[in-house]
Amino acid sequence: MAAIEMKNIVKQYGDGFPAVNDVSIDVADGEFMILVGPSGCGKSTLLRMIVGLEDITSGDMIIGGDRVNEKAPRDRNLAMVFQNYALYPHLTVYENIAFPLRLSKQHSDEEIDTKVREASRLLELDEHLDRKPGNLSGGQRQRVAMGRAIVRDAQAFLFDEPLSNLDAKLRGQMRTEISRLQRRLGITTVYVTHDQTEAMTLGDRVAVLKRGILQQLATPRELYDQPNNLFVAGFIGSPPMNFLPATVQGDQLELPFGKVTIPAEKASKVQGKDLVIAGIRPEYFDDAAVVDSARLAQGATFRATVDVTEWLGNEAYAYIPFEAPADVREQLSALEKELEMEAMHPQLVVNLDAASRIREGEEADIFVDARKMHLFDPSSQENLTVGL
Ligand SMILES: Nc1ncnc2c1ncn2[C@@H]1O[C@H](COP(=O)(O)OP(=O)(O)OP(=O)(O)O)[C@@H](O)[C@H]1O
Ligand SMILES: [Mg+2]
Repeated sequence: MAAIEMKNIVKQYGDGFPAVNDVSIDVADGEFMILVGPSGCGKSTLLRMIVGLEDITSGDMIIGGDRVNEKAPRDRNLAMVFQNYALYPHLTVYENIAFPLRLSKQHSDEEIDTKVREASRLLELDEHLDRKPGNLSGGQRQRVAMGRAIVRDAQAFLFDEPLSNLDAKLRGQMRTEISRLQRRLGITTVYVTHDQTEAMTLGDRVAVLKRGILQQLATPRELYDQPNNLFVAGFIGSPPMNFLPATVQGDQLELPFGKVTIPAEKASKVQGKDLVIAGIRPEYFDDAAVVDSARLAQGATFRATVDVTEWLGNEAYAYIPFEAPADVREQLSALEKELEMEAMHPQLVVNLDAASRIREGEEADIFVDARKMHLFDPSSQENLTVGL
């Protein structure tokens, strides 16, 4: 096991395009690090530079204290689990797991047997050892691929979207399984995904990338509660954070649905700004009818017509359309494009308490908690109220 330090890593492909642009990430020994971001942001490129499958244009890649920029993949002793697990169809599960050990020719048959059985026990593959990969489920195949990585005593595990071709249910199961296994083995892991749920549930820390540039490196909770900028705010969370145009007057914010008084610390950060973008997660809203009076006093209540409601059993969402000026609309739709979200007409997504009785097409009183709102600079896209 080893720590992985990436220092000012740059990757320019032949055409000069900077796929990874001055990225520094330190992965602690035993840590589970996630690289997440939309398609083309440079996740796979970065991972391939760690393993040695891609040259590094500039910067230092340090694994276990050694600079490995010039080292061949086989000398880095890392185990990569690809999206397609590349198992050998004609070999049994046992032989698939044993494969890297046989290839290295450094182990006796007894040693190989011990290691394969140890990995198989850990991965609960004992009853499948004599089967062929073609007869296994996607999740079982995934475990065989991991077994092959485990027997090598690699310094770190690297995963590139290992769950993307599984169905939703199996993906959920495998997510838990990978998480459990990583904790048990305590092995340094770098895991690439474009799925923010995977990022949030698996990672000790998450590195959010956009167009080759590191946007924020933080724990899942910190990313969710204190996003650095509009991109991270919109990328993390599902349904995503609502973004609303807001004009500032002292400690008052004028939002499309009315005026809200914001806490003094937040107000002081946006003084002198005309227009800001207010970021409000769906759960900062609620049906005012089910909010207690102490909480009502912490925010504002407005009246709105609910367009659509969605009831999911344990929770419910209400959709409320709103008007936005043309320039703000343009900016929001550009952001949606970056986030690969469906282009949508401006609407609020409100997470309703299960006790709410709001119905579609009806007017209702909606509460918004002003303390939790983030305020973003529309031109720099920075979060002006980070940490507040
Ligand atoms: N061999 C290559 N030659 C030139 N450009 C490349 C090459 N491989 C990748 N790129 C470019 O580098 C950028 C990053 O690609 P990369 O594969 O790292 O993205 P990614 O974040 O893994 O995306 P995805 O989620 O789609 O897998 C992209 O813009 C891509 O077009
Ligand atoms: Mg990729």
